[in-house]
Amino acid sequence: MTKPPQPPQPHQGDGGGKPPLGVGMVGYAFMGAAHSQGWRTAGRVFDLPLSPVLAAVCGRDGDAVRAMAGRHGWAAAETDWHALITRDDVDLVDICTPGDSHAEIAIAALAAGKHVLCEKPLANTVEEAEAMVQAAAAARERGQLAMVGFNYRRVPATALARKMVAEGRLGALRHLRVTYLQDWLVDPEFPLTWRLRKEAAGSGALGDLGAHIVDLAQYLVGEPVAGVSALTETFVRERPLPAGASSGLADAGGGDGRGPVTVDDAALFTGRFASGVIASFEATRFATGRKNALRIELNGERGSLAFDLERLNELSYHDHTEPGAHAGFRRILVTEPDHPYLEAWWPPGHGLGYEHTFVHQARDLVHAIASGTAPEPSFADGLQVQRVLAAVEESAAKNSVYTPVLPVDPIGPVTPTAPTTPTTV
Ligand SMILES: NC(=O)c1ccc[n+]([C@@H]2O[C@H](COP(=O)([O-])OP(=O)(O)OC[C@H]3O[C@@H](n4cnc5c(N)ncnc54)[C@H](O)[C@@H]3O)[C@@H](O)[C@H]2O)c1
Repeated sequence: MTKPPQPPQPHQGDGGGKPPLGVGMVGYAFMGAAHSQGWRTAGRVFDLPLSPVLAAVCGRDGDAVRAMAGRHGWAAAETDWHALITRDDVDLVDICTPGDSHAEIAIAALAAGKHVLCEKPLANTVEEAEAMVQAAAAARERGQLAMVGFNYRRVPATALARKMVAEGRLGALRHLRVTYLQDWLVDPEFPLTWRLRKEAAGSGALGDLGAHIVDLAQYLVGEPVAGVSALTETFVRERPLPAGASSGLADAGGGDGRGPVTVDDAALFTGRFASGVIASFEATRFATGRKNALRIELNGERGSLAFDLERLNELSYHDHTEPGAHAGFRRILVTEPDHPYLEAWWPPGHGLGYEHTFVHQARDLVHAIASGTAPEPSFADGLQVQRVLAAVEESAAKNSVYTPVLPVDPIGPVTPTAPTTPTTV
């Protein structure tokens, strides 16, 4: 029987004198491994008010999840997430499963009195995301917090970019160009894993890569996308069925027969912000040679910033107020102790990597829980992204017609007023 909702209570742990924060994680493959690193390392690098404890991990295959628990340091393993979310030693449920289970697990975990961290995209549909925002708002009243895992906000260089925009170093923003390019689907014999099935993944490159760049765009500009004009494409429409249970990205080899790909392989769209910023977005898994090329360029009247995730310790900055004779893009090596997150890491020049974003994510969420402050990105931010993704699909289905995006009220789930309708982009 489900316990009545209660704020998480501290329990006993070995937190070196600090109160423990018991983490229960659902899903134990790619993101499961990355989040394990985050929870394991955050309290060893940063001085945290609570000590994360890897209490229990959950997956459906008992042998596999027990092996993973041993390798990554989880104290217990479960094979049913319903059991995980009601454990007394779990204060926070970390959801690392495909999108089709995010809403059900998150809403149940919040109802069971736990804090929730949910991987992106928040859900597979706007309706699911709205229900999650409502559940999070009700849980907030009871002192529980919910966050969505857009980890690229936690690259020191992107956090620095946000700070520089907020400080006005770029002046009024004009342009945003974001692309997220990968190439792991180019082979038409790559099997039909869950990432290629709409009922499991919601959408393809759009919900996977596009969700990240929409969130980053909204984070950097500081306002939601107001509307989009889009096209999507599925280049390879049929693929071999996977041989067995497979991780979304790994080529587990083909089994018998083939099945239809029901998601997009690539999404391309333009967007408007209410302040006048215009943006272009591209997400694809077919950009041969590009492995994880999340690239951003922001142009403002006083300067520009550029970032490439494949060189994630660097941020390029052009100060347009400097005399033209010696102005130009310069490289900021984002490894100084006064750069975001860097105070606790290595000496300048000793760079960080992909996994550190998950350490920073855990750090920020622990601070939020200890102080009772709403963490960002919130479920409402996740819903805002979901609405942009839905608008992209709607626009693409209607020959790229400009499609407005409803803004989300940061407190409640929906703002009922219609957005301003700009001209076409
Ligand atoms: N933030 C990022 O950079 C990033 C990167 C990759 C994936 N993701 C997101 O993380 C989520 C998981 O993706 P992944 O790449 O780790 O997938 P994956 O296929 O590698 O792992 C999925 C895991 O979920 C488990 N699972 C599925 N359904 C389950 C259920 N009902 N109960 C218990 N366990 C279940 C699987 O057994 C597996 O362990 C997705 O939402 C994805 O979009 C985020």
